[in-house]
Amino acid sequence: MIIVTGGAGFIGSNFVLDWLAHCDEPVVNLDKLTYAGNLQNLESLKSDQRHTFTRGDIGDSELVSSLLRQHRPRAVVSFAAESHVDRSIHGPGEFIATNIVGTFRLLESVRAYFSELSTAEKQNFRLLHVSTDEVYGTLGPNDPAFREDTAYAPNSPYSASKAASDHLVRAYHHTYGIPVLTTNCSNNYGPYHFPEKLIPLMIHNALAGKPLPVYGDGQQVRDWLYVRDHCSGIRMVLEKGQVGETYNIGGSSERANIDVVNLLCATLDDLKPRAGGKSYSDLITFVADRPGHDRRYAVDTSKIQRELGWRPSETFETGLRKTVEWFLANQGWVKNVTSGAYRDWVKAQYGN
Ligand code: NAD
Ligand code: DAU
Repeated sequence: MIIVTGGAGFIGSNFVLDWLAHCDEPVVNLDKLTYAGNLQNLESLKSDQRHTFTRGDIGDSELVSSLLRQHRPRAVVSFAAESHVDRSIHGPGEFIATNIVGTFRLLESVRAYFSELSTAEKQNFRLLHVSTDEVYGTLGPNDPAFREDTAYAPNSPYSASKAASDHLVRAYHHTYGIPVLTTNCSNNYGPYHFPEKLIPLMIHNALAGKPLPVYGDGQQVRDWLYVRDHCSGIRMVLEKGQVGETYNIGGSSERANIDVVNLLCATLDDLKPRAGGKSYSDLITFVADRPGHDRRYAVDTSKIQRELGWRPSETFETGLRKTVEWFLANQGWVKNVTSGAYRDWVKAQYGN
């Protein structure tokens, strides 16, 4: 079996669903259920014996050690993190606590567990650390895309905390021989995406007839990947990746934010036209820029393509349409996650 951390969040829950759709290997899912964690994402697994959920913190060494001893996993796949850049600007503390200290404690628990495994079990064991392309910093318009050997240059408290966690994971391999794998992925989008991030926020606001807040000039570029393609990349790295190596994962789909928002509006115009016949793009509003906003991300995926044969199956256009369709069909999910604390966040970030 495997242990997944952060498996009730956006990518983690997609990964758990995807994993169990591809094989019968059981999953123990450890998640703290912060504002970003949602058991509704895993509703379809409610009576599935292959999935066991435990609420808890990756930094709770006693809990993590007892889960490891009890279940004896052959792998730990770790998604658990604070993940939203804007929140890290408002309050970096939680990012340091979970992404750095939490990862350190998780590594210590895994180190103790690993030391007690037999030689054969040690050979099979993997710790896969899920990370981000943001650790590499920002690119100019003509710079080559991030490669695995691009120097780290994180610019936000979020990316700095992820960079620190990547370094700790690397060090636990070099110093203690823990068989680690690290993936650095570009911007994901798809089902169960929490509507504080660009794409789901825009869909949510558009359907509510609210302004679509584009930061700065809207010319910042991100490299978008459909979440299920990220999941297939992680599965492949876990299965065939070289221990101690890092793998970049990305969609090779660079788009300026304003183009993303315009395409979203056009897709919504097509799938759910506004009453009155106006385009959703009339709601686009340019707002103050994010402090320290990285201008461009682009990921060179030639290593994972060449060595493991991974390729994304969705283009940005097909993935975005699927995503809009999912949100239109799952307005109950959106309603549940956008009450209470969510409204406080929107007020703090965007004012009234
Ligand atoms: P998310 O914020 O949607 O989910 C994070 C999950 O981790 C939540 O379920 C939360 O409850 C849980 N969690 C938080 N702190 C925890 C703790 N201390 N112990 C246990 N669980 C905890 O994040 P996401 O977008 O799904 O990202 C998952 C991982 O992938 C993160 O490590 C992130 O850095 C990385 N990543 C995200 C993207 C992206 O575009 N979203 C891209 C590349 C990499
Ligand atoms: O690159 C991978 C990273 O992608 C992950 O590591 C992070 O966890 C994930 O949150 C994401 O970070 P970004 O900051 O790129 O994503 P976000 O959706 O917050 O913003 C995408 C772009 O859109 C970014 O340039 C900021 C802009 N934006 C965002 C919001 C929320 C806006 O213009 N308006 C908005 O309201």
